[in-house]
Amino acid sequence: MVKPLKLGIIGAGNISKSHLEAARRTGAAVPVAICDPLLDRANQRQNEYGIQEVYADYHDMLAKSDIEAVVVCPPNHLHHVVTIDALRAGKHVLCEKPMSFRADWAQSMVDEAKKSGKILQVGMVSRYQPTVQWLRRQVAEGSLGWVYFARAQYVRRSGIPGWGSWFTRKDMAGGGPLIDIGVHRLDLAWYLMGCPKPVSVFGVTFAALGPSKQGLGTWGTPEWDGYYDVEDFSAALIKFADGSAISLEAVWAGYTDPSSALHLIGNKQGAQLIDDKVKIMTQVDKHDMDTMVSMPKNSLESGFSGQMMAFRNAVRGEAPCPAPGEQGLEVTKMLAGIYESAQKGASVAL
Ligand SMILES: NC(=O)c1ccc[n+]([C@@H]2O[C@H](COP(=O)([O-])OP(=O)(O)OC[C@H]3O[C@@H](n4cnc5c(N)ncnc54)[C@H](O)[C@@H]3O)[C@@H](O)[C@H]2O)c1
Repeated sequence: MVKPLKLGIIGAGNISKSHLEAARRTGAAVPVAICDPLLDRANQRQNEYGIQEVYADYHDMLAKSDIEAVVVCPPNHLHHVVTIDALRAGKHVLCEKPMSFRADWAQSMVDEAKKSGKILQVGMVSRYQPTVQWLRRQVAEGSLGWVYFARAQYVRRSGIPGWGSWFTRKDMAGGGPLIDIGVHRLDLAWYLMGCPKPVSVFGVTFAALGPSKQGLGTWGTPEWDGYYDVEDFSAALIKFADGSAISLEAVWAGYTDPSSALHLIGNKQGAQLIDDKVKIMTQVDKHDMDTMVSMPKNSLESGFSGQMMAFRNAVRGEAPCPAPGEQGLEVTKMLAGIYESAQKGASVAL
């Protein structure tokens, strides 16, 4: 059996629970320490998961605790500083998405990981679904032919998280749905296509409902004395060096049907990810033919559990890191480019 990680958690908010549950379910890590400037939150997690050490300041935790790895899950604007501090303290890092919202910050994280020789894994949790792993193999083996286009959507009807909190502040979140949920869909489409080199992006963003407090969802805690200065709707076209492209829609709120569609269109076959199924589309004798392939829904290898096991295996040298910082950097460049394009009203070269 691979030895579990002695783990620290930085940021005891909502998503810390998913990581702690994953550690408990898989046994891949033993949470030893947790920190949050809001000590009540850290204490609550301590009680729920029997964590030995609680800190208000992550610097203290990094200096004093015997942990070998950390999960970085504070608000987005802190991901790069906290990750760099943790790597410098000799800890391996699993950093929540988005890795960062600035390419220069993401680059400095990658540089530090290289210097330290520690693992920097990015929290691209969707990669661990059995359907995704299966489809990735199909693409890599050429079953779909050349995948020249992907349509990726993460569209909510009313799903603005924590109005007025860090989620809707540009200085802390870096943006709205594009950076919050678009990052998952973009990463997934790009990963399934084999991570082609991005060359240019064209993006548009809108803030049609959020500023007037419409389209609110249930994630996060609203802060009504806060403010909203991010988009609530974004769309983009990303072009790659091999001529392929991804169209992306990331929407927190809009008067349209919700969608989490992900289509890959190849010159032999097409594929659509539908939760625990993959639909393969082709033609036989000039007739359209669709085949549904089913996968186990919640295996131990999927989602946060799969991510935690993969992190442990990468740290222990049992397997390569499946979502390395270098790939997070490429995704960050695409996201930052889309915002720049939306602001300029013109395409941006990457
Ligand atoms: N993978 C996913 O699907 C997923 C889902 C939700 C959130 N996230 C990501 O996780 C991160 C946290 O999101 P959340 O929903 O848990 O937010 P949250 O607001 O519930 O929690 C963030 C926590 O970080 C704490 N914090 C602030 N400054 C800190 C510091 N200097 N050191 C330690 N902790 C600090 C806050 O006090 C808060 O408790 C975000 O980056 C978000 O994008 C990922």
